[in-house]
Amino acid sequence: MSRSLPSRSELGREILARAAALARHSDSATNYTRTYLTPAHQAAARDIARWMREAGMEVRVDAVGSVIGRYAANDAGARTLLMGSHFDSVRNGGRYDGVLGILVPIACVAELNARGERLPCAIEVAAFADEEGARFQTSFLASRAMLGRLDPAVLERRDAQGVALRDAMIVAGLDPARIAEAAIDTSRLGAYVEVHIEQGPVLLDEGHALGVVTSIAGGTRHTLTVRGESGHAGTVPMPRRHDALAAAAEMVLAIEKRCAAGGSLVGTVGMLEVKDGTGNVIPGEVRFSADIRAGDDATREAAEADAFAACESIAKRRGVTLERTRTHHVHAVPCAPWLQDALARAIEAIDAPRPRNEVRRLPSGAGHDAMILAEATEVGMLFVRCGAGGVSHNPAETVDAEDAGAAAQALLTLLALLAKKGSGSFLARAEKGT
Ligand code: GLV
Ligand code: MN
Ligand code: MN
Repeated sequence: MSRSLPSRSELGREILARAAALARHSDSATNYTRTYLTPAHQAAARDIARWMREAGMEVRVDAVGSVIGRYAANDAGARTLLMGSHFDSVRNGGRYDGVLGILVPIACVAELNARGERLPCAIEVAAFADEEGARFQTSFLASRAMLGRLDPAVLERRDAQGVALRDAMIVAGLDPARIAEAAIDTSRLGAYVEVHIEQGPVLLDEGHALGVVTSIAGGTRHTLTVRGESGHAGTVPMPRRHDALAAAAEMVLAIEKRCAAGGSLVGTVGMLEVKDGTGNVIPGEVRFSADIRAGDDATREAAEADAFAACESIAKRRGVTLERTRTHHVHAVPCAPWLQDALARAIEAIDAPRPRNEVRRLPSGAGHDAMILAEATEVGMLFVRCGAGGVSHNPAETVDAEDAGAAAQALLTLLALLAKKGSGSFLARAEKGT
């Protein structure tokens, strides 16, 4: 690459302006919420497709609504470097979670296109339609579909209004009978790289603009249903009650206590619903979620076993029943060492804030589409410093324009390293025939 890197501020300002434009596509008039297949979600997909086209990519929308841009290689038979992240959000979330990992690679491809430069690998940028799964409890739906690993049973899941996913797809112009067609030929993949806001305070506290992810914590999500006996709040004596909510409350605390054991282990109950909840009725049925994660699977599995055994014994003591369904499971995933090193070299090559000239490597506690892609190819992740104390899944989530620009410069530098077929990449290995 002969032309010097474009200015960090210029790149960063454009990325943030586009993130602001996407943030206007929200399901809610009062906060940032963009869930799978809503009108706001579809409007965001259209903007992303337009920006991909403007960057010189050919664009397709796959069978589950992901938008995928392709920038061809200088050699028709070349493998593909896939980059991307998701454009759905949690409810009342932040505008950069996921979106940054779409906008930064689009900015990089736009730059290559402006130079008239092609690489020895094709570049695809995937804007995954559903990663958070906030509407249908379907985490990683889009990346699973891309690998042909989406269980068609998810089509029967319903949102809070009772709309089935199958019907939501039809309304959005997608054919639920054809979800298998989202699957790509994974033998053509060379690697997957995801840029993501850190969603924590490490880079911010230590003064690094960027970081290299070493591994991604695995996790499970469960739905627990507690059934007791509903009754009159004024007449049933306290010792005779089988209050499903009081039992669930004790279970929530038991999960919290077991998951507070330290290290990377974390446990969260983020949803709790009292069926037919009424102020003067003893709760008869309660449903709640449990999300448990750790950097290694053994730690998480031990915590799950203990926490759910504690829930069972609480149910027994209180004379209520407990039913548990696991709705989500991903193993902990290591990032490929050669990609970690290549990303570190890319960070070293640009002049971004980096105390003691070190490149910060850190694990991710949050889940990412990279976890699913890791089932098919080697993955790497670049973290971008999160402002406002490192808060995410929260409207206060923020990223500095200079840091977003630095991420684009680092990614462009990574692409230049790959173009030299260096860094132990899939291209270097292909050249050696290994
Ligand atoms: C995705 O945001 C996750 O739940 O980690
Ligand atoms: Mn998220
Ligand atoms: Mn995310």
